[in-house]
Amino acid sequence: MANNILRHLALIMDGNGRWAKRRGLIRTRGHERGAEVIRDITKYCAEHDTIETLTLYAFSTENWKRPKYEVDFLMRLLDRWLEKELPTYHKFGAKFETIGNIEVFSPKLQRRIAMVKEETKHYTNVTQIMALNYGSREEIVRAVSRLNRKGEEVTEESLSRELDSPYSDIDLLIRTSGEQRISNFLMWQISYAELFFTDTLWPDFTPRELEQIIAQFIDRDRRFGGV
Ligand code: IPE
Ligand code: IPE
Ligand code: MG
Repeated sequence: MANNILRHLALIMDGNGRWAKRRGLIRTRGHERGAEVIRDITKYCAEHDTIETLTLYAFSTENWKRPKYEVDFLMRLLDRWLEKELPTYHKFGAKFETIGNIEVFSPKLQRRIAMVKEETKHYTNVTQIMALNYGSREEIVRAVSRLNRKGEEVTEESLSRELDSPYSDIDLLIRTSGEQRISNFLMWQISYAELFFTDTLWPDFTPRELEQIIAQFIDRDRRFGGV
């Protein structure tokens, strides 16, 4: 009987637009609702015994292809959300981190991100990493370029260290909304992750469903190439 330990959970939060459309609402209402779910899931992870890291896919390098009004809305939503949620990071003892290239964001948003990171850096219940303007290919290319500039040999260890996310490998990756693809998320770090796909749209995802998925994860037979 397997007894896997979940340390690093990653989530592709997908389906906000469809959630809104089904209700006859504009897509941005789905993003607003989806942002609320992040709080519940972060609380669950902070209280969970073994989860150390929660990585959330919030905005991909490909999401710039969306209509300008939606991209602008998502940027404003992030800013407002971080402002409003800072007290809950304190309450849950959650440390905020990001991966992805945030240098292209507005100075105001960059300052907000830096402020929340600074204010929460001492917390240890869970590290919540938001993937913002994140793309796995871009992350790997940037890491290799840095190693080249430093004249360092590219090895699995050195490359892992140079990634935006020098965190542990991912144990469990969940994607909501029924899509069964990776969409350029953490391709290096999911090499041996267990993958779960649920039809639930992100705004309807609950800690209860997460708990059910974790129960299945614990029983999976993870062999890592062994027997
Ligand atoms: C995920 O929901 C949120 C982001 C990508 C920002 P979507 O906006 O992709 O929702 P669907 O997939 O169109 O339903
Ligand atoms: C992946 O969702 C990115 C995020 C959840 C932030 P998308 O909705 O952008 O992915 P595709 O386009 O369906 O692959
Ligand atoms: Mg989508």
